[in-house]
Amino acid sequence: MEKLKNIKLCVFDAYGTLFDINSVTKMNCEKLGDIAEPFSKLWRSKQLEYSWLRSLMNRYEDFWYITKESLDYAMDYFNIKDELLKLKLLNTYENINCYEEVPEVLSELKERKISTAILSNASPNMLNKAVKNSKIAQYIDNSFSADSLKIYKPYSSVYILVVEKCNLVKNEILFISCNTWDVVGAKSFGFNVAWINRFNGKKEVLPFEPDIEFKSLIELPSSVL
Ligand code: LAC
Repeated sequence: MEKLKNIKLCVFDAYGTLFDINSVTKMNCEKLGDIAEPFSKLWRSKQLEYSWLRSLMNRYEDFWYITKESLDYAMDYFNIKDELLKLKLLNTYENINCYEEVPEVLSELKERKISTAILSNASPNMLNKAVKNSKIAQYIDNSFSADSLKIYKPYSSVYILVVEKCNLVKNEILFISCNTWDVVGAKSFGFNVAWINRFNGKKEVLPFEPDIEFKSLIELPSSVL
């Protein structure tokens, strides 16, 4: 596999990339039953859609607020009226776990003297809880939240946060995401980009392609020099 040269910093998207976004409904499937998967997909798609709508309308609310709005939509769509389930889903989301390969991959990057960061739409509080619950704080050098700009990825200013705070040039930075829209946004901004294609997705038909594609993060450390 080709190697990405001169990478000094790996910047990770959070949900779906580091943290297991589908585990939230899986851990509550006794109540959701066989709608758990479509419910999870609708909740996630509405969460992202609302982040883009609120950015374009200049009506910012933080990602936790949007996570609750989109959960309300999904529960209404599936005609679920269960406040206890809603609280359990939100609590599971707040205390989300990382994918099993994440600690080993982050540890190996640190051994290779490569810095690590998270760049996420999530609020600082969401990120702190997810990192703490996943026990990966020791491997994360920096965390950047779109909340500091009150606008969401893929708006280009959000990616600028990393360049400004880490005092690196774009080609020294590798951005890693499972989300194709985020891959496109980061590539359009000028980062090196790795797409973690966990869900066997298709690339977007946009002129900004990832530099490298993996099935999981396991392949990442050996691909950066
Ligand atoms: C994030 C979501 C969008 O972490 O995956 O930014």
